[in-house]
Amino acid sequence: MSNDRAEIEKRRTFAIISHPDAGKTTLTEKLLLYGGAIALAGSVKGKKTARHAVSDWMEIEKQRGISVTSSVLQFHYGDRCINILDTPGHQDFSEDTYRTLMAADSAVMVIDAAKGVENQTRKLFKVCVMRNIPIFTFINKMDREARDPFDLLEEIEKELGIQTYPMNWPIGSGKEFKGVYDREQQAILSFTANNGQREVESVQADLDDPNLGQLIGEEHRQTLVDDIELLDGASADFDMELVRTGKLSPVFFGSALTNFGVEPFLKEFLRLTPPPLPRNSSAGLVDPVQAPFSAFVFKIQANMNKAHRDRVAFLRICSGKFERGMEVYHVQGEKKMKLLQPQQLMAQEREIVDEAYAGDIIGVFDPGIFSIGDTICTPGHPVQYEGIPTFAPEHFARIRQVDTMKRKQFVKGTTQIAQEGAIQIFQEPNKGMEEVIVGVVGVLQFEVLEYRLKNEYNVDIRREGLPYQYIRWIDNKDLDPKKLNLTSDTKVVQDFKGNFLLLFTNEWNINWALEKNPDLRLSEVNRDT
Ligand code: G4P
Repeated sequence: MSNDRAEIEKRRTFAIISHPDAGKTTLTEKLLLYGGAIALAGSVKGKKTARHAVSDWMEIEKQRGISVTSSVLQFHYGDRCINILDTPGHQDFSEDTYRTLMAADSAVMVIDAAKGVENQTRKLFKVCVMRNIPIFTFINKMDREARDPFDLLEEIEKELGIQTYPMNWPIGSGKEFKGVYDREQQAILSFTANNGQREVESVQADLDDPNLGQLIGEEHRQTLVDDIELLDGASADFDMELVRTGKLSPVFFGSALTNFGVEPFLKEFLRLTPPPLPRNSSAGLVDPVQAPFSAFVFKIQANMNKAHRDRVAFLRICSGKFERGMEVYHVQGEKKMKLLQPQQLMAQEREIVDEAYAGDIIGVFDPGIFSIGDTICTPGHPVQYEGIPTFAPEHFARIRQVDTMKRKQFVKGTTQIAQEGAIQIFQEPNKGMEEVIVGVVGVLQFEVLEYRLKNEYNVDIRREGLPYQYIRWIDNKDLDPKKLNLTSDTKVVQDFKGNFLLLFTNEWNINWALEKNPDLRLSEVNRDT
């Protein structure tokens, strides 16, 4: 048992989240370099999941083998075993990000120093804050012209509603970037731009160093002294409890590309980020060390390998130790089973795992039995982890297959993609399965759906945009939806469990429905899941 404890306490599992192009791939790559997991920069490929648009999805499609790699990576640094969970860098996939965050114990937000919290990223970062896990901020690209650091911090605080604590402070930026001042060490890590050289040396010096003016320039020295005085006087105190609950984000400035500030960040991050913590379940808090093996499904992906038409369920282990071939209990399916082809990702290699511990992520073959949020545990020790909430779709379209002979593939494709949680599908009462209404959180998902149906299921579809923006489940099970008094532009649909829902074009229509039908109970989330 004590060996298991040591293994579990070594684990640090975090999600990395950023706006496209802020430098997530570059930072991940540098972290892997420090861990010795890769030998060369530029070898992390296929990372740009849904980076801009479908073109990137297609790109990923070509590299399906390594898109797995981009989902979860494990490497060692010092005596720590680190699991990095990649998240899609586009807010249209914020639901996917949220699920990934459910599997993480902390998050790293990468922000471009020239751009700050960008419009499209706001939603993504808010999702991060919703999880109440520690959030570390890496403000990247200081080797380029950056915005004022005080403004950047103020923006993060205002936009995300969290406090910030700069762990280090930048000295200039762009051509004038001289390095950072480490507030705890009270030392300067100086940056020397080296023409054409991507990795730079750093020199240490403290604020009172008589040579400081020479090292960073008199003007920068003065600004730094003033800034630090201001920070020490005005900024929030470092409070570990606030960090733990995600209310205070430690902020680091650096430059991933030039490898500046990455290792100090990694060291501090590992010092402050928690090991796997107890998780809430139907049986109360489950201790990662004391309790036997348990895990939950946070992600499902079909057709990871087109040739094999496989479907992989990703499990976050919450407690105990997983051993290959062990018997487990699938709580929702009420069945004992063995997990097939358990895989883990060591840097770029997809390997069969023999053992894994709380904090780790494993991918297992899914014959179509798992749903997102399902619990798997040791037989005889049933627990059930809290479900993962689904986001209410905000965009709707009606889709139908072009070739009516492809009905089977169409149903299979839409159903499987819906099971992955990328889309939600609904039916109009009394209509067949050859057309469905699809609801998504971000419009890009429509394009991914269209692309995947064509490429993975060989089905062309026609898509017709629908004007609905709001979805509400009807809570009253005994109510006949046909008898409701609704505006003409409100639509009654059913989900695939047969529950009735209403689609509205605006809030006014929701109020109308509630006023005209006093018994009607609506909810924004499906309470069945
Ligand atoms: P992402 O995963 O968040 O989308 O970002 P990624 O790491 O791919 O970085 C986006 C671009 O920003 C890349 O340039 C990368 O080299 C650059 N970059 C990342 N970190 C830094 C940094 O600290 N300083 C500077 N100056 N640039 C940085 P690219 O031209 O799009 O790609 P590439 O040709 O360099 O691969």
